[in-house]
Amino acid sequence: MKVLLIGGGGREHALAWKLKQSSRVTKIWCAPGNAGISAEAECVNVDSGDVAALVALAEKIRPDLTVTGPELPLVNGIADAFAVRNWAIVGPTRQAAKLEGSKIFSKEFLQRHNIPTAEMYGAFESADKANAALEKVKWPVVMKADGLCAGKGVFLAPDKEAAKSFITSVMEKQELGAGGGRILLEETLEGEELSCIIFTDGERYAALVPTRDHKRVFDGNEGPNTGGMGAYSSDELLPSGLREKIVVQIVAPTLQGLAANGICYQGFLYIGVMLTATGPKVLEFNCRLGDPETQAIVARMDFDLAEVLADVAAGRVDASKLKWKSGASACVVMTSGGYPGKFETGKEITGLREADAGRGVKVLHAGTKFDGDKIVTSGGRVLGVTAAGTNLDEALGRVYEAAQKIHFAGVHFRKDIGAHVSVSGGTINDVPTSQNPPSKKPRVGHPPHF
Ligand code: AMP
Ligand code: GLY
Repeated sequence: MKVLLIGGGGREHALAWKLKQSSRVTKIWCAPGNAGISAEAECVNVDSGDVAALVALAEKIRPDLTVTGPELPLVNGIADAFAVRNWAIVGPTRQAAKLEGSKIFSKEFLQRHNIPTAEMYGAFESADKANAALEKVKWPVVMKADGLCAGKGVFLAPDKEAAKSFITSVMEKQELGAGGGRILLEETLEGEELSCIIFTDGERYAALVPTRDHKRVFDGNEGPNTGGMGAYSSDELLPSGLREKIVVQIVAPTLQGLAANGICYQGFLYIGVMLTATGPKVLEFNCRLGDPETQAIVARMDFDLAEVLADVAAGRVDASKLKWKSGASACVVMTSGGYPGKFETGKEITGLREADAGRGVKVLHAGTKFDGDKIVTSGGRVLGVTAAGTNLDEALGRVYEAAQKIHFAGVHFRKDIGAHVSVSGGTINDVPTSQNPPSKKPRVGHPPHF
């Protein structure tokens, strides 16, 4: 099987690493890939959002299977372009990808199908109407730009002044681009988050192991939201009672709702859930795997990923093929100093080999590239140090021991991945006050209790 993988982050490195372990896979290309992925695949310098260029690449290399990591190619219609050519691809069509590409579409879908979610105060196409609606909301209020905004489109406004300035920057000054043309106001939910990721062929589905991401940049869930600073997976995250509630109240009506709306959803569906005092509620849908959730999920996979993904593309999902390592896994993301704000790149990374040699450890690359024979930083999220273990403490111990061996100027990582921390007050998009928080002794976390 020849595989084309689209994307160039830690999630794609995790997928490439696992796909390469399959005896069915003879060759992997990755567009565009990164320095770490080049050890598993041939990296091709094609932009992952450019559907026409990806089609041209596939025309040339003729992969048996294409797997899409990020949302942009899906929202831009790559699955539709491949479907008309009868090429096998894992990922939903442009219309189905609107579940992620439009927050308003997704909220209306949730409401239409009675799936528990935060109450919507309204969706607005003009700044005047959005400002007027602020008179009637409960504070703090969650504000969401409708379209894709590179992870910057959600804001938890503590008061009217902050809400108005978000409306000005997003709707009037269009600082987030076209994605900010419409905004949604909704109730703020409180609780622990859980990432529930399934894949489906439109009829059957299978669930991946549960994960929890840590979105805020600093320890103790302080500071602004990021793409994800680390994730862990452990069966204890999803006791059977909660699993059943999520399946019955969320997963089943979501799949039925898609079918009822004539949407044949094929690919991964990421359901971001808030575990509130009144039950699990949907925060968001993504039409793809999570990053860094995938790194933690892949570390627990005990099955042939290439075979399972080929089944998804061919419309024959068989959940019984999924076997998981018992225990737990963790991924700690190492970032450039200043991320998610401004940061510098081009910093030499050392210690990668020593870190990778740790028992059960795999250093997955995100923003890295070659500079001669050195590997240097090239993005905000640089590496995801990942390990499995017989329990969460062991996985975290392995990950943190390996992370200590890696150095680059300005490196920052959270020391409390896997620890039970609740979200403090403050805004989702707060501006960080310092590049790095005072470093604390690494501590080993414990799974939360439900
Ligand atoms: P989204 O872009 O919709 O995935 O939201 C990004 C993050 O914002 C989520 O993972 C949550 O941490 C937070 N968030 C989104 N909606 C809400 C909400 N209604 N209440 C509280 N937090 C939220
Ligand atoms: N880690 C969150 C996401 O992938 O959307």
